[in-house]
Order: sequence, then C-alpha cells, then structure tokens
Amino acid sequence: MTTVLHHPLVDHRMTYMRDVATQPKLFRELVSEITTFLAYEALRDVKTVEVTVQTPLAKTVGRKVAENVVLVPILRAGMGMLDAMLRVLPYAKVGVLGMQRNEETAEPIPYYAKVPPAKGDELAIAIDPMFATGGSAVDAVSQLKKLGYKKIIFLNLVSAPEGIANFEKQHPDVPVYTAAKDERLNSHFYIVPGLGDAGDRIFGTL
Ligand code: PRP
Ligand code: URA
Repeated sequence: MTTVLHHPLVDHRMTYMRDVATQPKLFRELVSEITTFLAYEALRDVKTVEVTVQTPLAKTVGRKVAENVVLVPILRAGMGMLDAMLRVLPYAKVGVLGMQRNEETAEPIPYYAKVPPAKGDELAIAIDPMFATGGSAVDAVSQLKKLGYKKIIFLNLVSAPEGIANFEKQHPDVPVYTAAKDERLNSHFYIVPGLGDAGDRIFGTL
C-alpha cells in the first residue's frame, strides 16, 4: 500500500524543491525537512515499550521506541535523506545499497551492497528520494528480503504512478510512503513534473 503525504507544510517545501532555481544547499535542507515529515507518518506504528520516568514533580509512565531499525539509503541520492532519518532514529543501524540506472533502459544496475543481514525482527527502512519506474526500489527490497528482513518499508519524496504500480505488483507486502505522487514518466523515464535528477541536485553535479 502506498501512502501519499498531504500536508501544507510538505507541499510548501516540495514547491521550492521542484524549482529549477533552487541551489544544492537549500535543496538538501528541503530534502531533510520533508524526510522528517515522511518519517513522522511512516513510523506511527513503530514498536514502543512502557517505561517509568521521574519528572521534577512525580513519577509517570512514558513510552520509548523499542524497534531495532536498519536504515538503507539507495546510493547515491538516498544519502540526502539519511541525516534526517538518523535525527529521528539516532540508534538505527545503517546499510547501503548502490544502484545506478541504465540511461537508456532505466534498468537498475546494482554496484555495491553493504547491509547487515537480519538477526531477528528488525525493521528495514529503504530510503531514496525518487521513485520513477520503481526498478531501483524493487531491486533494493528484493535484496533486503534475501538478507532475511521480514519488516520493510520504503520512503521516497517524489513518485510516479508507473513506479507505484510496478512496486505494488512485486512487493505487495511492503508499505510505501511518498511526499508527492506526480503525473507520469517521460520518454527518458524521468518523473514529470518531478524535480530533475535528485542525485545531481543534492550533490551539485548538474
Ligand atoms: C535515481 C534515484 C533512484 C532511481 C529511481 O538514481 O535516486 O535510485 O534513479 O529511478 P527508478 O525508480 O526508475 O529506478 P540514479 O540511478 O540516477 O543514481 P544516483 O542516485 O547515483 O544519481
Ligand atoms: N531519478 C531522478 O533523480 N529523477 C527522476 O525523475 C527519475 C529518476
């Protein structure tokens, strides 16, 4: 199932992020801020445990996050979302998956993988700003499943209907959270209206 964030604070940032005039510094900040909102939505049901805490006035009961999380940015653009994810989940482990699209076919070419195998019931969170044909995300999640992960979610910033349909067919058990669902892909498999090449805009390599 795919959840699309609908929120004025997200839409506001998305508008600046899409703007071709936005420079890498601001672009990176917007990626981080929207990622924080995505995490807020996606982690509503994260495992917690009850704890007691002594306030200056009394003892009370609170809750602490008890989920073991492995964050998995898809290189390279996924790195842009990592800081924000680590801010909200400071004890998460991190693994990385390198994936490069073939320029002509958009087929993902995996070139690096360093993800710890699942030990128990960890939650793996794949992160990548762009969800175009869905090929990279489908491959990344397949790799995570092979490593033994049973609980997986995928967070992205801009998605295309084609990518969502492809992913839901291949991994119907994996929830997806996106900050915007765009109109379509163009003939070069870029998202329209989209925001261009996320990796280039994050890393200033246009
Ligand atoms: C981009 C993006 C995704 C992928 C999405 O990466 O960051 O990983 O394309 O497209 P898909 O849904 O059609 O697979 P790219 O291959 O351009 O590499 P980069 O992150 O190194 O720029
Ligand atoms: N990758 C990007 O960075 N942007 C797109 O629109 C599609 C794939």
